Amino acid sequence: MRALTYHGSHEVKVDTVPDPILQETDDIILKVTATAICGSDLHMYRGKIPAMKSGDILGHEFMGEVVEAGPKVTKLQTGDRVVVPFVIACGSCFFCDMQLFSSCETTNPDRGSIMNKKSLRPGAALFGFSHLYGGVPGGQAEYVRVPKANVGPIKIPLPLADEQVLFLSDILPTGYQAVLNTGVGRGGSLAIFGAGPVGQMAAACARMLGIETIFMVDHHAYRLTFAQEEYGIIPVNFDKVDAAEFILDNTKHRGVDGVVDAVGFEAKGSALETVMANMKLEGSSGAALRQCIAAVRRGGTVSVPGVYAGFIHGFLFGDVFEKGVGFKTGQTHVQKYMPELLQAIEDGKLRPNAIISHRLPLAQAAEGYKMFDKKEDDCRKIVLTP
Ligand SMILES: NC(=O)c1ccc[n+]([C@@H]2O[C@H](COP(=O)([O-])OP(=O)(O)OC[C@H]3O[C@@H](n4cnc5c(N)ncnc54)[C@H](O)[C@@H]3O)[C@@H](O)[C@H]2O)c1
Ligand SMILES: [Zn+2]
Ligand SMILES: [Zn+2]
Repeated sequence: MRALTYHGSHEVKVDTVPDPILQETDDIILKVTATAICGSDLHMYRGKIPAMKSGDILGHEFMGEVVEAGPKVTKLQTGDRVVVPFVIACGSCFFCDMQLFSSCETTNPDRGSIMNKKSLRPGAALFGFSHLYGGVPGGQAEYVRVPKANVGPIKIPLPLADEQVLFLSDILPTGYQAVLNTGVGRGGSLAIFGAGPVGQMAAACARMLGIETIFMVDHHAYRLTFAQEEYGIIPVNFDKVDAAEFILDNTKHRGVDGVVDAVGFEAKGSALETVMANMKLEGSSGAALRQCIAAVRRGGTVSVPGVYAGFIHGFLFGDVFEKGVGFKTGQTHVQKYMPELLQAIEDGKLRPNAIISHRLPLAQAAEGYKMFDKKEDDCRKIVLTP
């Protein structure tokens, strides 16, 4: 089959690779009908994630049709149309029992990337996400093997088109969990840092939840303009103003009830930090995180769906303490939110496909990565079809 494979920093290509086969009795094989490129794929594409091997198949946002099912698959049959969560979870361990699916302690044989890990067990395996997360081949391919098929994939009713539901695999639940984690409700105020696909989905979910005032921070004007038109956010361009100062000025110098950091460890900001991160003297850029801490009100919560790795020197824990700020972070517990979000799409409360700006055949996936990475042609989100 054809699949998008990794060959080093900024080097991906569509190769012919062996077809996946059933390995466990509760696996399925999926014929992929639609797949997308995620901001998390960019961390790997840019060579920022260790434990990538040449030939690894990327892709963790995908859906398709079941073409083979192992004998212990009870919830699905061949011919079913499903969206697959990017998190692989067993459904019955200590963490899955608490619906903390991305902490599933049975699916990832690796030890994870945490520096101060001591004897910590690893969290869940993820599709196409390096060998830190289990080295499981991803879904930017014609076919993909899906482990734990009784726990993850959700069946899609026929009338819904692929594009309407594809983002249930990752960015829609990620935006949703990010907003829920702030604890901000109807009538409240929120700031979303990062106007990429995750930030856009957070804005859509915040609107659905009745949050009144939403600031959105980025420096790509086309992304801010889209969110302003689609979700009525207040745009804040950090190339033109100090974002946190702008938010304070417009909230009686209190700050917003909650903040979402949908940027992560490659945040643009301090040149020194970027150099230090490139030299591996700094684990992550703290530029967005510092702004988030400055923009949240006393007693508010900073929710961090953006990916971070390792340590940050300039982490203002004194400010966190002084303001009594709470933090919620982590990979999304996708399985927990899929059913209610599918219902919201069916009810017309969410239209996640609105953010798609480009549709390409899988054969052009490498061009898609370059375009999404460089923000060329006003790229917001790319859907690939095998
Ligand atoms: N927690 C999860 O389960 C989960 C799931 C999906 C994605 N993610 C992560 O979420 C983050 C965003 O993903 P995406 O697909 O939207 O990626 P993206 O790269 O398209 O978007 C990131 C946006 O942040 C902006 N940005 C950069 N520096 C900034 C700063 N200092 N302040 C404000 N904005 C800044 C960029 O201009 C860009 O528009 C990534 O780190 C991704 O890995 C996490
Ligand atoms: Zn993702
Ligand atoms: Zn589990």
